[in-house]
Amino acid sequence: MYDHLTVVTHPLVQHKLTLMRDKATSTAEFRQLLREISQLLAYEITRELEMTTRRIETPLREMDAPVLAGKKMALISILRAGNGLLDGVLELVPSARVGFVGLYRDEETLQPVQYYFKVPQDLKDRLVIVVDPMLATGNSSAAAVDLLKQAGANDIRFMCLLAAPEGVARMKEAHPDVPIVTASLDERLDEQGYIMPGLGDAGDRMFGTR
Ligand code: URA
Repeated sequence: MYDHLTVVTHPLVQHKLTLMRDKATSTAEFRQLLREISQLLAYEITRELEMTTRRIETPLREMDAPVLAGKKMALISILRAGNGLLDGVLELVPSARVGFVGLYRDEETLQPVQYYFKVPQDLKDRLVIVVDPMLATGNSSAAAVDLLKQAGANDIRFMCLLAAPEGVARMKEAHPDVPIVTASLDERLDEQGYIMPGLGDAGDRMFGTR
């Protein structure tokens, strides 16, 4: 069931995640930890990027040195919590283009409704990395990926901090071609759709709202 999911078990990621889950952690610390973990997750999600070589001269001799083959990247933040993952990844890949998808849940139909969509035009030529800290029901993530595919994206990866089994299953059903990288596969969703044991509302914790 989880063959499209990678859980990054690196000790640094797990340690930082525990600090983030702790309700005693301040907003400032939470934001900083999220930024740090985003870079460690980005390391994993970009592991298979294509490489080529470039002829360079070190101070001692010439060599064919490895460089990225140059497939361009787009980072897509699902508003608003996705922005907490965005900056850290952008530091590692400063040339990436950035897009934003805003979705809210219709209280009657419970379906995601788009309120904002602004993405780079050439998505079809880019590796698209979607960032959202919490993969809960998976409904908004699946809807966001639907929109990105309609906009031309055909090489999409999904990066989150925590995933619930329900969300992973939903994504696999809707988008089996989209690999997911996360720091933890938690136990389940509660009745309100929170990930358990989770860390609460990621947006509220990173922006200090309630
Ligand atoms: N969104 C959050 O911020 N937290 C959850 O636990 C689930 C969805």
